[in-house]
Amino acid sequence: MNVTVTQGDLAAQAADTLIVNLFEGAAKPGGAAAALDRALAGALRDLMAAGDLTGKLNTVVTVYPRGALAAQRVLVAGLGPAAGFTAEKARAAVATAIQKARDLGARRVATIAHGAGAGGLHPARAAQATVEGALLGLYQFEGRRTPDGNAVEALTVVEFDAEKLAAVAAGARAGQITAESANFARDLVNQPPNLCTPEYLAERSQAMAAEVGLDYRVLGPDEMRALGMGALLAVAQASVLPPRLIILEHRPAQAAERAPVVLVGKGVTFDSGGLSIKGAGDMPAMKADMGGAAAVIGALRAAALLNVPVPVVGLAPASENVIGSAGYRPADVLRAANGKTIEIISTDAEGRLLLADALVYASRFQPAAVIDLATLTGACSIALGRGMAAGLFDTDSALAERVREAAERSGERVWPMPLYPEYRDSLKSDVADMKNSAGDRYGGVGVSAAFLKEFAEGYPWAHLDIAPMAYLDSPKAPWPRGATGYGVRLLAELLLAWA
Ligand code: BES
Ligand code: MN
Ligand code: ZN
Repeated sequence: MNVTVTQGDLAAQAADTLIVNLFEGAAKPGGAAAALDRALAGALRDLMAAGDLTGKLNTVVTVYPRGALAAQRVLVAGLGPAAGFTAEKARAAVATAIQKARDLGARRVATIAHGAGAGGLHPARAAQATVEGALLGLYQFEGRRTPDGNAVEALTVVEFDAEKLAAVAAGARAGQITAESANFARDLVNQPPNLCTPEYLAERSQAMAAEVGLDYRVLGPDEMRALGMGALLAVAQASVLPPRLIILEHRPAQAAERAPVVLVGKGVTFDSGGLSIKGAGDMPAMKADMGGAAAVIGALRAAALLNVPVPVVGLAPASENVIGSAGYRPADVLRAANGKTIEIISTDAEGRLLLADALVYASRFQPAAVIDLATLTGACSIALGRGMAAGLFDTDSALAERVREAAERSGERVWPMPLYPEYRDSLKSDVADMKNSAGDRYGGVGVSAAFLKEFAEGYPWAHLDIAPMAYLDSPKAPWPRGATGYGVRLLAELLLAWA
């Protein structure tokens, strides 16, 4: 979709559809809605008086100007009550309204930066939320997009006040970059696992890197063997598809020598569980077990286009976890790249094995911080609830604070989880330095983080268990179901604010 920003009067725009808004409980339309109400001879106030236009969040009322405006229709998006209004509500309201516009056959939509007036958001933030809401809400998987279907082709964000124009333009641009990067990640996650292989992830990363100006490298099995990555290699060894460690780097010219932020994403392109096989019903959603890798790849895309002020390295260890005679087994003992040995209890606790070798690899960059994202445990979804928040673990409270603030700004929620030293006790092994799973169901989120901590040595570290967030079978209105792109916008906000 083509996104532009222009100064002027919304009522005068040559678009087929205009979107304005209303707060629930407002006595009368405000801002651009007030201007349209005047142009429409009080139609909005009439609808309010009749109780047909309430401003309740995620409601949309359609008004037909009957020649009073160039536009064919005006949509009034409900923002909910002014008290407790957030950028996330602006995103949702815009998503709801623009989906309605699309379904009505709109091609060219003009709107304002929602939430900048009475909502109290900074104009740049309001514009960013508006564009993000539109692009995230209109997302459809690339494999399903039909050329003849309804599609909004152009979105214009109109700002009346010339003094705010630069802020609105900057916010709209940032929103377009972060939302398109999130949608890039969603396409990777929604892609079926016969197509989205480790090699495919590498190829898409390479093409994207060339497009936006990132450095790209990839390690295959030979390089992994040379580095002693026995944990990652063990997960991959049942599959005919060779593993890949994808490496993307953003080096801003003005800060090339600074210590980088390293992002690590779990890239299991399909998780059958291996010999510790999953139930048939649980398996199809495991195409999304590379959601962490997709988030990291998407975040690097955003980092390049936003030219964030800090060097960033993205690491995406990618492998299948399937069944084959060459596969690893429960009771096997592996050696990771830092020399630590691991007794396999469950071949279904594979993500932590990929991450172990990637976290060790991360230390060679002498990072300022390492953040990993992984669809690591079903236990995290049990603890927090699907679509509620990612679990946040850390070894550095300043880093965790940065993550929490970025989560707040992006609307991609995190919730802090404890890393009690006692979690490590349940991983004691008789034959290796540690087991890969406690073997029972208790505290599975904390135990997985305690395992990762063994490999995240020598740098500040944060771990996001995104199992509750990466893929949603039942949609959380107004967002389309399937891949969410969770993490891309959070990481973009974090990196933008790093300086
Ligand atoms: N990929 C799964 C975790 C998962 C489950 C993500 C559901 C999203 C939705 C992970 O590899 C896994 O299988 N974890 C096991 C760990 C256990 C064997 C210690 C789990 O959660 O049961
Ligand atoms: Mn698993
Ligand atoms: Zn997994």
